[in-house]
Amino acid sequence: MVALRSKYLLILAVFLPKIMATGDPNQVILSPNSEIPNESQEIIPETIESSNVYISGDLLCSNDGCYPLIFEPTTEWQIIKPEQRLPAGLDIRVNLETGLKEAKIGDDTIKVASSEETKEKNNNQIVAKNDAVSDDSKFNYEFSDQFEIIRDSLDSGDYVTTEKKFEEILEFAHDYKHGFKIVSNEFDILSTICVNETLPLSLRELDARFIIGCVRNNPPVVEYIRERFPNFVRDLFKSINTFQDATEDVKFIVKRFINILTVMIEADPTYIVGINDFNTMKKVYYTIDDKQMKIKILEIISSFIDRVHQDDIAPVMKRDGILFVVPEISDWVSEYTKFIKDVDTDEAHLRKFFTTLHNLKTDFGKDLKVDPSFLNWLVDQVEVRKQHLQNGLEERDPEQDEFDRKLIDSRHLVFGNELADSIKRFHDEL
Ligand SMILES: *[C@@H]1O[C@H](CO)[C@@H](O)[C@H](O)[C@H]1NC(C)=O
Ligand SMILES: *[C@@H]1O[C@H](CO)[C@@H](O)[C@H](O)[C@H]1NC(C)=O
Repeated sequence: MVALRSKYLLILAVFLPKIMATGDPNQVILSPNSEIPNESQEIIPETIESSNVYISGDLLCSNDGCYPLIFEPTTEWQIIKPEQRLPAGLDIRVNLETGLKEAKIGDDTIKVASSEETKEKNNNQIVAKNDAVSDDSKFNYEFSDQFEIIRDSLDSGDYVTTEKKFEEILEFAHDYKHGFKIVSNEFDILSTICVNETLPLSLRELDARFIIGCVRNNPPVVEYIRERFPNFVRDLFKSINTFQDATEDVKFIVKRFINILTVMIEADPTYIVGINDFNTMKKVYYTIDDKQMKIKILEIISSFIDRVHQDDIAPVMKRDGILFVVPEISDWVSEYTKFIKDVDTDEAHLRKFFTTLHNLKTDFGKDLKVDPSFLNWLVDQVEVRKQHLQNGLEERDPEQDEFDRKLIDSRHLVFGNELADSIKRFHDEL
């Protein structure tokens, strides 16, 4: 900590807001002295204690008034008020004297760093980048020739050739090592083709398929994209919104995008599924009748709900947090129960969706009703799972057993009241 001369710590990392927090921001560097504002001009909301803040619609309120729940970033540093949630990709710094956090729109570079150590880091990064971009002829790897042709044909509008080259190397995208090599050299172009509205849909779809090949079952690729291309996920969501008509071609490419999003969001605990993302997914869910795609969208929503559920905050905050992004939660509960009951749903998805429903029911209690047919299903499943636990097989699958026990217990602990209610209704109707 010897080098801490400035009174600001600048955190250039995707910030982990409280609601999603799973770890510390991974990079802390110094801001330059010129960044220090005149202290007496700062407005410090000292009087607002975070424990007095409550959510009201899309606002956070305390005795002193209300402010937006979602931080509204500008290019200027602004103080992050208690409990405010941050969009991804902002630059964050901490005022060491007041302990308050400030944020502004990130500029994707580490230009403002001033300590020797980070300067050095910067230079290295820039050098590395230049190598990859401008020195193509020298910086060769297995696929540099193909991508040179891809770039040239894109420039000249010869998209037939672009597609042909992509087809040629498509199989390598799935390969663990080649996939990473391609992404680390070419993702600047891969990430723009699929969202470029002026290009043919067939080419954009092919590019999306190529990206799916790279990200699937390849955590280093996902990590690389997450760190270097933090706006990629949001760009995909935005791009889905630009489609006007749900033609067959459009449905096809949107399904590809959803596939990519499922992998990226699942792997990124810092990504916040925002209201806009959610509205996009809802639109897609009800427009495109494709079971596999619907399952993927439910997976994304599950990731969001389960993260909020696991967060160490008061239950009422969890509920409000979930309702803020997913207002029609009961419609989604119906979708989850539908897929849980569906005999064609595989065990992995059944477990995931059941767990989400379990989490929701735990947080919402009686305010969340589940369908009586789901409760019937649960009663049957309790018997099936009990038999499975008692089948006497020596070789146990601990995860399976744990899930089975959870399901059995949930009948009384989580869904118990409703079961009692529905039995009572049944008797009342006799
Ligand atoms: C900060 O601003 C106040 C009032 O605007 C001024 O009186 C003071 O001299 C300034 N301090 C510095 C260090 O510039
Ligand atoms: C979209 O592609 C065209 C043709 O290659 C290119 O001229 C244009 O700059 C691209 N737009 C974006 C936003 O990348």
